[in-house]
Amino acid sequence: MKNPLSAAVKRASFPSPMANLLAHLFFFISGLTFGIIICFHFKSFSFNLQVTNGQFSIITEQPSSPPPPPPPSLMHGMRDEELLWKASMAPKIQEFPFKRVPKIAFMFLTKGPVVLAPLWDRFFKGSQGLYSIYVHSDPSFNGSEPEGSVFYGRRIAGKEVQWGNVNMVEAERRLLANALLDFSNQYFVLLSESCIPLYNFSTIYSHLMESSHNFVESYDLPGPVGRGRYSQEMGPTITLDKWRKGSQWFQIDRNLAMEIISDKTYFPVFQNYCSGSCYADEHYLPTFVSMKFGERNANRTLTWVDWSRGGPHPSKFIRTDITKEFLEKMRSGSSCEYNGAKTNICFLFARKFTLNALDRLLRFAPSVMHFDN
Ligand SMILES: *[C@@H]1O[C@H](CO)[C@@H](O)[C@H](O)[C@H]1NC(C)=O
Ligand SMILES: *[C@@H]1O[C@H](CO)[C@@H](O)[C@H](O)[C@H]1NC(C)=O
Ligand SMILES: *[C@@H]1O[C@H](CO)[C@@H](O)[C@H](O)[C@H]1NC(C)=O
Repeated sequence: MKNPLSAAVKRASFPSPMANLLAHLFFFISGLTFGIIICFHFKSFSFNLQVTNGQFSIITEQPSSPPPPPPPSLMHGMRDEELLWKASMAPKIQEFPFKRVPKIAFMFLTKGPVVLAPLWDRFFKGSQGLYSIYVHSDPSFNGSEPEGSVFYGRRIAGKEVQWGNVNMVEAERRLLANALLDFSNQYFVLLSESCIPLYNFSTIYSHLMESSHNFVESYDLPGPVGRGRYSQEMGPTITLDKWRKGSQWFQIDRNLAMEIISDKTYFPVFQNYCSGSCYADEHYLPTFVSMKFGERNANRTLTWVDWSRGGPHPSKFIRTDITKEFLEKMRSGSSCEYNGAKTNICFLFARKFTLNALDRLLRFAPSVMHFDN
């Protein structure tokens, strides 16, 4: 396009007075127009600049808070003493130098594979960044989960665990310590291979994150399978009136997780004097937590279980047990307190379910448990 300014300069060189006047007039008008255009441009330019600045400042929030440090490798090779010591470190500065999205650590204590893995895969789908998974299985197990599974590569270095032995609690502490190394983990859930979720991820996430309590089942039980398991040698650190019982399947926050792995007073008493028919896994946390951190404990677990058939082990559920009614009963058939108010959401997880129940659990998951948005 022709430049109006250079055209005006050419006209201004016309010799006649009339042409001169016209040229001056033209100069004046084009100058005015030019001024107006420049003025308008400048205004919109400064407006654009402000908008760009606004966007710029939003974008720069992120560079000034860099991504969280990657969680340490699960294959760190640390001995238990070293691992517990490292995990017991808490930052003195309360603000995080990165944008911390709190995650839930789902810790699976298993013998072999996570048998209900396909159900959990479905449960976690679409919630990346809000959870971490840790699996502690027997060292003799050498299978691995398929690459597409959320469990793939999430096994920690485990040691042998015997039912009822104090080494079961050692395994729980090992799981907690590994999960604590990731600063984003805020809530910690202990599960077995036979556990299932009763609600979808978003419901479980907010129920745990918004809870003002920890969920470590703890009660005083007279008789042989309660107080009868106490040993006088545990005194004076632990006295009979402080002895508690409860399920090992807990849901706890970061502070309590930290206290548990750092306990060098009460846990050694269990390691030394709780053997045979003492069952440390049913007494250590219920006793320790009620003695030291009782006020913030709900004293109940969020893991549903059925003891109604009696015996040392709770009921196992198979394919034909899985109905819509049964699932609804576990989800909302009880009454309890949550953050000081009455609720019928008392259980978020349930056990014990067999591999043979998997297909029906998968079938009911979308309609009853609201999996898949
Ligand atoms: C473990 O691996 C070895 C060979 O690598 C195999 O012979 C053995 O059967 C495996 N054990 C299990 C429990 O899968
Ligand atoms: C749980 O028990 C402790 C005592 O160990 C008590 O202080 C606390 O209030 C109890 N929690 C609830 C929710 O009742
Ligand atoms: C999760 O389940 C609840 C009901 O428990 C439902 O209201 C909610 O929409 C579900 N969330 C998603 C993301 O599907």
